[in-house]
Amino acid sequence: MCLTIPAKVVEIKGREAIIQKESATKTIDISLVPDVKIGDWILFANQTAVQVISETDAKEIVDLLESYHPNAQPDKLSEKFKNIIENSKKRDLTKEEIIYLLQTKDAEKEALYSEADVVRRANLQDFICIHGIIEFSNYCKNDCAYCGLRCQNSEVKHYRMTPEEIVSTAVKAANVKGYKLLVLQSGEDPYYTAEMFADIIQKIKATAKVFIFISVGERGLDFYKKLKEAGASGTLFRFETANTKLFQKMHPNGKNFESRLEHLKFMKELGYFVATGSIIGLPEQTLEDLADDIMIMKKWANMISMGPFVPSKNTPLEKEKSGDPEMNFKMISVVRLLMPKIRIPVVTALETLADEGGRKKGLLAGANSLMLNLTPGKYRANYKIYDNKFFDKESIWEKYGLFKAEESYQMIEERMGEELNKVIK
Ligand code: 5AD
Repeated sequence: MCLTIPAKVVEIKGREAIIQKESATKTIDISLVPDVKIGDWILFANQTAVQVISETDAKEIVDLLESYHPNAQPDKLSEKFKNIIENSKKRDLTKEEIIYLLQTKDAEKEALYSEADVVRRANLQDFICIHGIIEFSNYCKNDCAYCGLRCQNSEVKHYRMTPEEIVSTAVKAANVKGYKLLVLQSGEDPYYTAEMFADIIQKIKATAKVFIFISVGERGLDFYKKLKEAGASGTLFRFETANTKLFQKMHPNGKNFESRLEHLKFMKELGYFVATGSIIGLPEQTLEDLADDIMIMKKWANMISMGPFVPSKNTPLEKEKSGDPEMNFKMISVVRLLMPKIRIPVVTALETLADEGGRKKGLLAGANSLMLNLTPGKYRANYKIYDNKFFDKESIWEKYGLFKAEESYQMIEERMGEELNKVIK
């Protein structure tokens, strides 16, 4: 579902209303909400009012989505910075330019965020899409050094949702709450076969109009082919880091970078909408590595999946420093400059590190969607890739996602279509 900034009705003329949104006014159709009055707050999509909402809730959404860049200080921006921003409008940035942007501080850093916010609004309007993630199993056969679900962590309280539970959780999220895009995620858990997944996906798609993304690790070409045929639309599959030496260090049990790239390659060939990216702030990772990460994303991603490193308990990295949230925001901004229309979700790890404000800051730095956790309560606490926090505001955003409108689904469909066609060309 998608969320948009609410607008206030300032005048009504028959079946049309003039609304004020941020500092602009606009005329829209109000036939779907005939009882609307002057002074009411409404949500609208495609020039049509969809729903009237209370002032309190409207302010809550405005608070999350409104643009706010207080520190504009144009006189403090170097010529070099200004040139790089200009270049980003004409061509891909070079590695050196990317590194410059990732090093920015103070006024230049704020200007980078604000530039990315402008690019996001110009290319994707001010819709924020809300997607859901269902973490259906925390078993994992891998031993990734950073991950709390690694097989060597004997503290994990294991669970597996049954196929019926996965289907019913997904169908409820789509048909009751209005989600249009759901990610089914687990550790790499061979218990679930391709046939089981195909059946799960078919059952969800038969009862709910929703896009299914899968995030289940390296399972090979045949597996992903079957799931695509069963109706899966996308994958969430990070390459984790572009630095192959660091990759090896982080994955001691034989996983290799080449195999990850192969997966990305065949996922694209199979027609998946691929969400990929890296962990930001792994021990020993350099700015060069992060610039390389961005170049790989540019090459492979239809959607971005990146987030800060959060040291997880009972892992070899538990005493390491967390990734810097500001570096994550800068990564979001640079990716936005290089890929103006790409989907960039704000991940939960950003809230863990940067508090509730992390979400808003991510959106203001160029991200355009939120990923909310839909794992049933009784399992949630046991899915600890890293320690997590949850916030009550989610229910407000869920409530006002434009779920009654077909628009959300169509919008996602159109955007995915555009993005995939662009790649095929
Ligand atoms: N910090 C940040 N991200 C992590 N992931 C796993 N463990 C951590 C951590 N400690 C990410 C990996 C994986 C995704 C599902 O979660 O990038 O691909």
